[in-house]
Amino acid sequence: MTFLAQRLDRIKPSPTLAVTMKASALKAAGRDVIGLGAGEPDFNTPENIKEAAIAAMRRGDTKYTDVDGTPALKKAICAKFKRENGLDYKPEQITVGTGGKQVLFNALLATLNPGDEVIIPAPYWVSYPDIVLLAEGTPVIIPCGQNNQFKMRAEELDAAITPKTKWLILNSPSNPTGAAYSRAELKALTDVLLKHPHVWVLTDDMYEHLVYDGFEFSTPAQIEPKLYDRTLTMNGVSKAYCMTGWRIGYGGGPQHLIKAMAKLQSQSTSNPSSISQAAAVEALNGPQDFIPEHNKIFRERRDLVVEMLNQAPGLTCHRPEGAFYVYPSCSGTIGKKTPQGKVIKTDEDFVAYLLEAEGVAAVHGAAFGLSPFFRISYATGTDVLRDACTRIQRACKALKD
Ligand SMILES: Cc1ncc(COP(=O)(O)O)c(C=O)c1O
Repeated sequence: MTFLAQRLDRIKPSPTLAVTMKASALKAAGRDVIGLGAGEPDFNTPENIKEAAIAAMRRGDTKYTDVDGTPALKKAICAKFKRENGLDYKPEQITVGTGGKQVLFNALLATLNPGDEVIIPAPYWVSYPDIVLLAEGTPVIIPCGQNNQFKMRAEELDAAITPKTKWLILNSPSNPTGAAYSRAELKALTDVLLKHPHVWVLTDDMYEHLVYDGFEFSTPAQIEPKLYDRTLTMNGVSKAYCMTGWRIGYGGGPQHLIKAMAKLQSQSTSNPSSISQAAAVEALNGPQDFIPEHNKIFRERRDLVVEMLNQAPGLTCHRPEGAFYVYPSCSGTIGKKTPQGKVIKTDEDFVAYLLEAEGVAAVHGAAFGLSPFFRISYATGTDVLRDACTRIQRACKALKD
């Protein structure tokens, strides 16, 4: 009998964090490794946000705060939802957690009973199915292939809904594909949900601001106000504001759900860091002009990576609307042999080969629930990306039939 709880057997450690740690270990051991596994911007947190944190410390904002967020931050979040999404939330409808991850965790733990189903389109962000499993729910995975730009169709959603369905998790722009739903595409999905009043939507809008080529972001409760009472609109400052280490995420939703989530948080972490909350107020209320500046650089990098990967034999890479990831198919490498004579059978074999042969660390598609693909994060310097793509091209050219 093991000392550890059985619930841990249901989940696995985050594969994206595992790749990042493996790349760091190889680097520390002196290998020339380029890590394309991490999901965080390489840009630094803007100075005005850092200054707000320093001012908060000097002011003495170093004590416990209300469990699920300070009044100042909740006010800033309400203003953000109104300004950017046309959504009216009152402060009592807002929850703030230690990263977007805690908001998702709280929502699922506070609502799922054993056997409740949660629909998750694949490829998905690695944590969704595991959090559902921890909460004793059942993930229902809908594979969404490259032929529909990795997006779920209305009829696929309709067919997956059962009387046990509790939530649909939507993530647009997506980690790992960068795919984002247009207004019309999202409307087709919200129309399906209108027919099934027992199904709630958990929309993960983490990459809202990272969209390119004039794409217009929208979110379910904005597109279909009739869903407002059964939607948790989740977001955070980690990605757009380059604040991954500060750990602030938030959500807006019906008050009884928000209260239940606060109850759970009150018996786990209590409030998120008081200093990070003060910084997040400045992030949301302060100047936003660095966002389009970063996006211009991200778009150039996306185009560079898509173009170079499409020149690699055996790979095809879709050009996504947003986030900072691409999700190329490596189906043309499956069945080929490496110079060492090993046959590539899976996307996991392919990324292991990339790391071994060329020192490029990427994450295999199986981790995100759709193979044979791999994820590259292009939130890294342009020269480094060019070098990484040249190495990937070389690795692909070295494969033999
Ligand atoms: C789609 C998605 N949702 C949520 C999160 C969690 O964000 P946070 O770092 O704020 O917990 C991430 C982070 O990688 C993400 O990619």
